[in-house]
Amino acid sequence: MRFDVITLFPEMFGVVRDLGVTGRAHAQGRWSLHAWNPRDFTQDVHRTVDDRPYGGGPGMVMMAAPLEAAVNAAQGARAALGLGRAPVALLAPVGQRYDQAGAEKLAASDGIILICGRYEGVDQRFIERCVTHEISLGDFVLSGGEIAALAVIDAAVRLVPGVLNDGDSALQDSFNDTLSGLLDSPHYTRPEVYEGESVPAPLLSGHHANIARWRRERSLALTAARRPELIESARAKGWLNKADERYLAELAGTYDSAADAPKRRRKPSATSAQPPKAPDAS
Ligand SMILES: C[S@@+](CC[C@H](N)C(=O)[O-])C[C@H]1O[C@@H](n2cnc3c(N)ncnc32)[C@H](O)[C@@H]1O
Repeated sequence: MRFDVITLFPEMFGVVRDLGVTGRAHAQGRWSLHAWNPRDFTQDVHRTVDDRPYGGGPGMVMMAAPLEAAVNAAQGARAALGLGRAPVALLAPVGQRYDQAGAEKLAASDGIILICGRYEGVDQRFIERCVTHEISLGDFVLSGGEIAALAVIDAAVRLVPGVLNDGDSALQDSFNDTLSGLLDSPHYTRPEVYEGESVPAPLLSGHHANIARWRRERSLALTAARRPELIESARAKGWLNKADERYLAELAGTYDSAADAPKRRRKPSATSAQPPKAPDAS
């Protein structure tokens, strides 16, 4: 997978290229990064890439010509390697919100050309001529597209097969299909007791089914509290089982154990006046 990044600050990309998981994967040749500086595609002695906005107002606007020339150079370099024309994405607050599904799609592709805006933004005619997608990191304004591009690259690269040491760990992350698109459960490590707080007992039990159920219930509870729309989405996709639904109903205080009990209730003996046992979580 190859990323071509068009940026006035190529040095910022050392962060993903040289460090951590993505740095190791880059050194292994699992992905590549090529930065193109629009200043290298200017025609004047000052290497001008921006100018004042028509209609007035504050700030400067990135000019179309250096950006278009940089995109053409990137597409040309990719073609020379036998790669097809890449999508061209502008990082922009007005773009579509980047999410895990977007990262998965990108990870399965040949890569992308990312344009990092600066100043007030880029000339609209460049967007109309060259840009195929606009990607936002969220509802806030950054000083430039570089930090957004770094996030886009990092989230995609860690999904490329072989990048993470433990092949399963990406599958256990929040939003992943194997976690039914839910939020991840809390994690604990040594010591067993920290400042008087103990690790939850199920995690110390060594009982795999109980550990899995505890993690699933923590995921369900956290997601229901913070991102209820993800619960709805998992339900619509048929990813919640009976035990999940029962747990969610208990959380919401609507679980009617009596309604579920008759199937499991044993005939009471004359000597036993015990209430029926609550159904188990299977
Ligand atoms: C100061 S911002 C320009 C903001 C623009 N005037 C607006 O209000 O939408 C400069 C550049 O940062 C990048 N940027 C800022 N916020 C972003 C976000 N939330 N997601 C992606 N890119 C962003 C874009 O490339 C943008 O061109």
